[in-house]
Amino acid sequence: MMKVIVFLFINVLGISLVFASEGGAIPLKHVSINLDDKAALYRGAQTFIAQCATCHTAQYMRYGRVASDLHLSSAQANSLLPPHLKLGDEMVSFMPADYAKSVFGTVPPDLTLIARVRGADWLYTYLTSFYADPTKRWGVNNAVFPGVNMPDVFAALQGVQEPVYQSVKLPDGSSEQRLVGLKAPLIAGNMPPAEFDTLVRDLVAYMVYMGEPAKLQRMSYGPYVLAFILLFTVLMFLLKIDYWRDIKKPVKPE
Ligand code: HEC
Repeated sequence: MMKVIVFLFINVLGISLVFASEGGAIPLKHVSINLDDKAALYRGAQTFIAQCATCHTAQYMRYGRVASDLHLSSAQANSLLPPHLKLGDEMVSFMPADYAKSVFGTVPPDLTLIARVRGADWLYTYLTSFYADPTKRWGVNNAVFPGVNMPDVFAALQGVQEPVYQSVKLPDGSSEQRLVGLKAPLIAGNMPPAEFDTLVRDLVAYMVYMGEPAKLQRMSYGPYVLAFILLFTVLMFLLKIDYWRDIKKPVKPE
């Protein structure tokens, strides 16, 4: 028994260590997401289409599905549509893949399912953890995705953060500068930090929805399922009382 407990303990610990090490130089920031907040998801969709769909595709999602899932009015739905696209179209990128490859050295990945691969916390941390690094092609690097080839698309809104390095002694006696955190931007962004934070949260919420749209429906069934279970319990209880009514209690022998 003891062995089993130790085994489980090591496994659980091992798994959590793997997760902990996934974050890179800084710990992941936690983001809580409310998929019931359709207005937030709509704002996230707007940001996604304006800021991300230029380079990235979301080819397993259609504009029309977003419109119906988020109960958008036709004016709202049309405001999401890039020119020349229809509601039935997939969210394709406007950038030809070979052009993207020549500029970025890699084709920006499709983002439809990214939230299921990376998780909301990682996405939130990634999008808010670009920092100035003049050695890189776009002048920025990312604390959870070292050497990333994506430019900091929010640099104007957030400002460009500064890295904090610490010197770490290596076993061979030499030392190495290691990233340990990020400092507020030297030049502030043109969006107040709280507003920027909401923008990124809404965007991440939208990506979580996009990764698993059926979640919205599942959540809306929830209350009905619970109500049914409750009703069923009451009915069964009444039935039990009825069954036992005619059964005499056995007389205890004296
Ligand atoms: C100018 C083009 C461009 C824009 C705009 C852009 N990206 Fe990217 N993005 C890239 C490239 C290129 C990569 C690949 C980076 C690499 O592999 O080094 C990438 C990678 C990513 C990744 C990492 C995927 C992974 O796990 O490997 C995520 C997440 C991401 N982008 C999200 C976004 C979001 C969200 C937006 C909108 C706010 C956005 N990107 C806007 C070019 C862009």
